[in-house]
Amino acid sequence: MHLRRKLVVGNWKMNGSLAQLAELGPIAEAAKEAGGVDVGICPPFTLIAPAVTRSGGLMIGAQDCHARESGAHTGCVSVAMIKEAGARAVIVGHSERRADNHETDAQVCAKAEAALAAGLIAIVCVGETEAQRKVGSHVEVVTAMLAGSLPDGWEGGELVVAYEPVWAIGTGNVATPADVTEMHAAIRAALVGRFGDKGDRIRILYGGSVKADNAAELFACPDVDGGLVGGASLTADAFVPIIAAAAKA
Ligand code: PGA
Repeated sequence: MHLRRKLVVGNWKMNGSLAQLAELGPIAEAAKEAGGVDVGICPPFTLIAPAVTRSGGLMIGAQDCHARESGAHTGCVSVAMIKEAGARAVIVGHSERRADNHETDAQVCAKAEAALAAGLIAIVCVGETEAQRKVGSHVEVVTAMLAGSLPDGWEGGELVVAYEPVWAIGTGNVATPADVTEMHAAIRAALVGRFGDKGDRIRILYGGSVKADNAAELFACPDVDGGLVGGASLTADAFVPIIAAAAKA
């Protein structure tokens, strides 16, 4: 038995519609059939509640949250609201939010803390840019991001880390198994160094152009406990083979 069960999460980003929730049925069926793998979908906020009613047991999550409980934060959504809508997880610190909304490690950390305190699974994203990899500072950059983005302790909820190299997201340029192995080992060492045995139980997902034809190879790498999947999670046709690959890994 593996120490960590595989987890595959689809990040729909700013895509989807009520009609597209029809994809959840076959995805949920495939997840059940595959067995031994946890599967989730993170649709936009407005689709969370209807997705929950059609989830067929899939874990539904949000793509972001605010760190505060309530207040004058126009356009933002709190963890309590996300929970009330029926979500069980939330992605924080995605590179698109770090870039588009200038989110800092400290802000990501506060969001993760709020999510965990609410009993949600916090999926904390980290990843280097192409320029940082080119100069060889990728491991240093990612471990520093991780150190700044993870809260010190938590009571409820589950912490998940997603390593998503910025240059691999939505580009079709997937990281090589060697790149992924190097980074996931560094992340695991950092997690164990910081949280002890608990750090060994944190699932580390790879994200960035995961597709049906590369999923098996990526999920076979040591310390890759599943994937965070963007484009290829939007349809059951694209996502189901990735779930199957995770179940076999
Ligand atoms: P992608 O996105 O699979 O479309 O590259 C991954 C992500 O941003 O989580």
